[in-house]
Amino acid sequence: MDRDTAWELVEDKISNRNLRKHILAVEAVMRRLAEHFGEDAELWGLTGLLHDLDYEQTSQNPDKHTLITEEWLKDYNVDDIIIRGIKAHAGKVNPESLMEKAIYAVDPTTGLIVAAALMHPTKSLAGLDIKFLLKRFKEKRFAAGARREDILTCKLLGLQLDEFLLLCLEGMRNISDELGL
Ligand SMILES: [Fe+2]
Repeated sequence: MDRDTAWELVEDKISNRNLRKHILAVEAVMRRLAEHFGEDAELWGLTGLLHDLDYEQTSQNPDKHTLITEEWLKDYNVDDIIIRGIKAHAGKVNPESLMEKAIYAVDPTTGLIVAAALMHPTKSLAGLDIKFLLKRFKEKRFAAGARREDILTCKLLGLQLDEFLLLCLEGMRNISDELGL
């Protein structure tokens, strides 16, 4: 599957604007991490773009989250590596490969970064720095949905929290116009 086809699917299945921004953020960060690790940025990016495809259908039924996506994608030529990555982000399979561990940690982190950017005086990703982000990370009630223990699984990628947050921030800055931040 190429990116254009994946994006068409996203437009078809996801109507919520913020959810579209979220998956674009996850895609951009997955690409940045793939570059960092010398991995396949197309594959990692596609996994990010498709990871929440069935979110609107499964928000009341999290047991089914990503399993419906797996069914939909059977009609397309999608690498099994991508399917596994999508399922791993929601804990439907144990994150084992580097890419699976990456998407598991990236998913909540994009939410933390968006929330931090919105409360930064500049209201932008460009204005955010790592010190500000680390402070927000330590405030348990700030963006509480971004589960800190999940973000901390970045250590399984061999990255310290500050290194990981910086890579995520860099990835999101690459698409700041799309994110409106
Ligand atoms: Fe997500």
